[in-house]
Order: sequence, then structure tokens, then C-alpha cells
Amino acid sequence: MDHAFHVTDTSTSWTPRSWRDRPAAQQPDWPDEGAYEAVLKQMSTLPPLVFAGEARALTEHLADVANGEAFLLQAGDCAESFDAFGADAIRDKLKVILQMAVVLTYSSGVPTVKVGRIAGQFAKPRSSPTETVGDVVLPSFRGHMVNDIAPNDDARVPDPNRLLQAYHQSSATLNLLRAFTKGGYADLQQVHTWNQQFVASSNEGRRYERLADEIDRALRFMKACGVNTHSQPALHEVDFFTSHEALILGYEEAMTRRDSLTGDWYDTSAHMIWIGERTRQIDGAHVAFFAGIKNPIGCKVGPTATADEVLALCERLNPERIPGRLTLITRMGAEKVEAGLPPLLAAVRDSGHPVVWACDPMHGNTFSAPDGHKTRHLNDVLAEIAGFFAAHKAEGTWPGGVHVELTGDDVTECLGGAEEILDTDLGSRYETMCDPRLNGRQSLDLAFEVSELLRG
Ligand code: PEP
Ligand code: CO
Repeated sequence: MDHAFHVTDTSTSWTPRSWRDRPAAQQPDWPDEGAYEAVLKQMSTLPPLVFAGEARALTEHLADVANGEAFLLQAGDCAESFDAFGADAIRDKLKVILQMAVVLTYSSGVPTVKVGRIAGQFAKPRSSPTETVGDVVLPSFRGHMVNDIAPNDDARVPDPNRLLQAYHQSSATLNLLRAFTKGGYADLQQVHTWNQQFVASSNEGRRYERLADEIDRALRFMKACGVNTHSQPALHEVDFFTSHEALILGYEEAMTRRDSLTGDWYDTSAHMIWIGERTRQIDGAHVAFFAGIKNPIGCKVGPTATADEVLALCERLNPERIPGRLTLITRMGAEKVEAGLPPLLAAVRDSGHPVVWACDPMHGNTFSAPDGHKTRHLNDVLAEIAGFFAAHKAEGTWPGGVHVELTGDDVTECLGGAEEILDTDLGSRYETMCDPRLNGRQSLDLAFEVSELLRG
């Protein structure tokens, strides 16, 4: 095993620029390389968005997940938008994640590690460099960090100033998230106020209200027994972490700093970053970049991944076998998960690599509705999660978490749910810039289903 080789490899010669020697998939063609490099230089002088100590704390929480003692809930937008940027949308997304976490923790008794796809999720890999809108062929939209979604050629030209705008929007988003989660809003006594009106009027919302009543009663019981609940920070604030797909490597390089405490390199653009399904080539630039940073990291694993590929990724990305360092996010599709996942679980288990296994039940279950909208059916999403749990049960491994695309808004992007969204409804509130997201009711429904699987 070339275990020792990689330790020296990354700790002595790695720099944030090392990836530039490797082929980098999915990078934009910046029209003016000089302008792009000038923006990166400016970015490298800007304050970090997160601190190394926070990233280390997340690694420790994820180590509990790797050990089968906690559950990971990673959730948020497919792509954040420069246009839909405001306090209400951020609060409502946080609300639905807090609700899901309370459902999972209260119903299963397992602590939930909360990580948003937020405050940096602005770049999208695309299957094709062009897309057809109406009857015009345009360069693909690559996320607001790169170009604009408007259907004309000018809007689709990559603009490096967007990297700076993504940084500043991430900073403002993170500031608000810190205020909400540490400043009283995430207090467990607010458990009722996290329920939005459109959710509360549904079956899932009523089920949530009953659970919130029980939590209220439990808190009153603790007080009556003489427990000083005021002095328990765990009841009044929440640890909430940020994450995104680290696709545009120049941006990530510019945000990478050496931690003054340990001397290690951290990508300070988010607590956790992940490698997408299209950029996980073992000799590619993304894997080379991720190998040298100390943050907790994720890697998507789709239906074509072989056990050898997954083991090579584990060796390259976590040669020191640090629990919590590496999360493998499987996205097999509902039909493939039960046969495709067990061989990967067995191979990693037998290698002794301590990974977190999380299920992304979204990206393997996307299809086009008759009217052309990209969609997913909640039943397929739930079926993939059930298959994920079954595969782990068969292999004796821990189904560590879920990774989902959702919004706090009352959208009609995914089909199904108790308030059955039909394909004829998709046009009414289809607002995503990229993939279809679960709305608040569908997200709660998913949380109740997962907590039952965890209990079982
Ligand atoms: C995503 O998470 O939005 C995504 C593009 O996923 P994947 O890399 O798994 O296709
Ligand atoms: Co997506």
C-alpha cells in the first residue's frame, strides 16, 4: 500500500496551486485570463469566511457519524442565486432544516449534524457545454459564480467579477446564519415558530406540531425537575455548518489559507466542500486540490463507480484515515442502489477506511416531465433512501446521513408528497435555477420517513 507515500506527497510539496498541473474538468473558458487572475489575487487578500477551528469541529462531529453515533443532514439549494438573495429566503431554508433535524433527533434519539448547501453553492457542473433554450443553442449556464442564466449569448460569457460577488453573498449569508443559529432563533423553545404556514396546514405540518408539543412538554418536565435549562447552551443554540461543491478551483485556491495554529492548509470558503460526480477523476485537478486541504470533504459516488475507484479515492483523500475527514455521498438512483451499493460498502469496510456514508437520493432520480420541466418524484427519492438503509443493513455498516436539495419556499418542482404535486402542477411555482428541490412539506415528509428507518 502506498499509504506513507501520499502522506509525504501532500504534506511536503502540496500548495494551493498544485492542482494547476492536472487536467481540470468543468472549468469555464474565462475570456480574459488576466482579468481572472487579477480577481483571484484580490480574493486571496480578503478575510476567510470560516475558521480552521470550526472546520476541525465539523470533522469531529462527522467522526461521530463515521462511528455510527450521529446522523448527517446536508441540505439546501441545488444552486444559490444572486437574484433571489434576501433574509427571508435564508431564514426559511434554515427553518426547514431545523425542523427536519428536530424530527430526526427527537424521533430516532440520534444526534443530527447539520450542514447546509448554502453560503457558497454557486457553481454547477454541466453534462454538455451547450444547452438549447426554445430553439437557440447557448453556452450552458454554469451557476451565478460564472455566468448568468438569461437566455442570450452575452449573459452566458463567464465573468470573473462574479467570483467576488459570490464571496460577498456567501459572507452576508453566513453572517445571518450565525445570527439565527447563535442568537436565539434556533432555541429549542422556538420549535413551534419554525413551522411555516404553508407547511403547518398540511399532514406533515400537523405531525410536526404534535412532535413540537411533546418537545415543549419535555422541556417543561426538565424545568419542573429542577434542571436549569437556561444554562444549557445545547438547548438554545445550534451548530450549523456550510458546504458547497468546490468546482471552480481558482476560487477555492484563492480562499485557501495556512492555519496559524497548526500550519495546515484550510479552504476557508466553507466548513465542508465536496467533489462532484463529474470531477472525481483520481488523477484530476479536483482530487489533487482536495488532497492537500484539511477541511472535512465529500465526494459524490454515482452508479458507474467501481470498488477499486472508491478505494483509490479513500487512499488519496484520506491516507491518514482520519474519521470524519471523508464523506462518500452515494447517488445511485432508486433502481440501482440495492444492487450497486453493497459491493462498495463491503470493499470500504474491509479496507478499514473510516468514511461517512451519506445518501444523495436526488441526482440519480431526475427525469423530464411531459412539459419539459426537469423533475423528481418523492417516491423515488424515498425509495433510494430505503435502498440505502437496506444495503447498509446487509453489510453491517452505518447509513450515516442524507444529502438533499430543498427550499423553504412553497415551490412545485418535485412530484408527489402527501399534497400530491402532479406533473400538470409543475409550471405553477417552478423557481429553481438548476435541479428541482423538495418544498417544505416534502422535506418534512422525508425527515419522518428517515427517522422511521433509523428507528427500525
Ligand atoms: C449537485 O449536487 O448539485 C450535483 C451536480 O451532483 P452530482 O455531482 O452528484 O451530479
Ligand atoms: Co443538483
